[in-house]
Order: sequence, then C-alpha cells, then structure tokens
Amino acid sequence: MFRLDNKAAFITGAGSGIGEEIARSFAQQGANVAVADINFEAASRVAESIGDNAFPIQIDVSEEVSVKNAIADVIAKFGKLDHLVNNAGIGLVGNVEETSLEDWNRLLKVNMTGVFLCTKLAIPHLLSSGKSSIINIASVAGLVGIERRFAYSATKGAVVAITRELAIDYVTTGLRVNAICPGTVYSPFVEGYLRKNHAHELEETIAKLNARQPVGRMGRPDEIAKMAVYLASEEAEFVTGSIMTIDGGLTAR
Ligand SMILES: NC(=O)c1ccc[n+]([C@@H]2O[C@H](COP(=O)([O-])OP(=O)(O)OC[C@H]3O[C@@H](n4cnc5c(N)ncnc54)[C@H](O)[C@@H]3O)[C@@H](O)[C@H]2O)c1
Repeated sequence: MFRLDNKAAFITGAGSGIGEEIARSFAQQGANVAVADINFEAASRVAESIGDNAFPIQIDVSEEVSVKNAIADVIAKFGKLDHLVNNAGIGLVGNVEETSLEDWNRLLKVNMTGVFLCTKLAIPHLLSSGKSSIINIASVAGLVGIERRFAYSATKGAVVAITRELAIDYVTTGLRVNAICPGTVYSPFVEGYLRKNHAHELEETIAKLNARQPVGRMGRPDEIAKMAVYLASEEAEFVTGSIMTIDGGLTAR
C-alpha cells in the first residue's frame, strides 16, 4: 500500500522538520528523492542519511535561476519528475500593525513566489510523467484565524487557493494537486520560534502550543509525511484539489 517505487520526487525545504520527514518517507516507499534546501549542509546531511536513492540540492525557492538550476539537476539525475512537494516556508509572528513591509515582502517571496516558481518550472516535467502530483504544505493559518500570524496567514491562504486553482487547470492531464494544512507540528520551525520569542517562558508556551490542538498535543513531522505519501500514491488517484487538515481537531472547533 502507498508504494512510490521508482518515482522521482523533488522536495523543497527538505533539510529540516516536515520536509526532511517527507523525504525519508518517500524514499522508504521506494522513491528517488531530491532533497532541496537553501541550507545545503542540512540537505546533504539528510540525503546522506537516507542513502543512494537521495541526493542534495541547494535551492532558494524564491529565486527563478536557482529553481531552474535545481530542476535541471533533478532531471539530469533522475531523467524525470513525478512528484513536487512545495514544503519550504518561513514563519513570522505579528499582527498587521506589527508587520513591516520588509517582513511582509520576505514572507510572500518565500511562501508564495516560491510555490509559484517551483510549480511553474516543474510542470512541464510533471506533465511528461503521465501520472504525477504536486503537494503543497500550507497551514491551518490559511484556513482559520490564528492570533498574530498576519503575513503568514496571508501566504498560506494563498497556497490553499493556488492548490484548488491548479487542480482545476490540470484536472484532465494526470497531474493531481493537493495541499496539507498542518496544525502546530513540533519541528525546528517551532523550536526556533520558541527560542526567539519565548526563551524566558518555554514551558508555559509549549503548554499553550499543545493546548491549541483539542487533542492536547502538537503534531509530529512523520504524521504529516504519511499524508504526503498517501497523496502521492496511486491509491489517491481520485484525490485532487483537496485541502487535508492534520491538526488534532483545531479547525473542527
Ligand atoms: N511546524 C509547524 O508547526 C507547521 C505548521 C503548519 C505548516 N507548516 C509549514 O510546513 C513547512 C515546513 O515547516 P517545518 O516546520 O518543517 O520548518 P523548518 O524550519 O524545520 O524547515 C523548513 C526548511 O525550509 C528551508 N527554507 C527556508 N527558506 C527557504 C528557501 N527560500 N528556499 C529553500 N528552502 C528554504 C529551511 O532551510 C528549512 O530547512 C513550512 O512551509 C511551514 O510553513 C509548519
């Protein structure tokens, strides 16, 4: 079930957290994976630990030339591309008044333009594959109000909208497009947020983050990765334009 044998996958932001776990899970299910990250050292560490069916790529998803080169590397290495996982993303804490134009632009560039560029440049190869998929990692912040996540919510809401639009444009081609909206997942992303914003009140803040999910805990990267494997698999052939929440009940309230 949910095998990805001989599939070629390009996973952005795979040097850490959710992307790293998606790369591991895809490889475990038989895929060849391009572990792409702005942090080449992190991508190399992940690719090396996965083994022969993984290789690292340095990419800045927000720069067109960088994305072009990365996709050319994937095609040179694997000869094809079956799955794109748009996972690279950055966060920002702040309400609208606290958000500077500079930070707003930075978030849009990585979280939205990054998805645009990787998708645009990967699509010709995904279409040649015959049966292919794009998996966008959005967030519950794109679906419901999460306090002081103004710019982040804007970008993730856009990713949800992009997912549905793409699914319709390509629905007859064999290319499926879906998104996953995680609730809070304990990853280096969250660790960095805690260090930066709550170093003096770690325990209380972790308790609050746990309580945000009605099940009472944060998610784990491997729980998101399992959904990504399913969405890429043949078993999900009827699934396109879907926005999958994995959030411990957060959006069910
Ligand atoms: N952790 C959570 O609670 C959570 C919840 C919902 C959604 N998400 C989303 O999941 C995705 C992964 O998050 P994570 O928690 O694993 O974060 P993470 O910080 O652990 O990993 C993100 C990776 O993306 C890379 N990256 C950042 N900017 C990049 C760029 N311009 N080009 C290429 N790579 C870049 C980083 O180097 C890092 O390795 C993000 O899109 C995030 O918004 C995370």
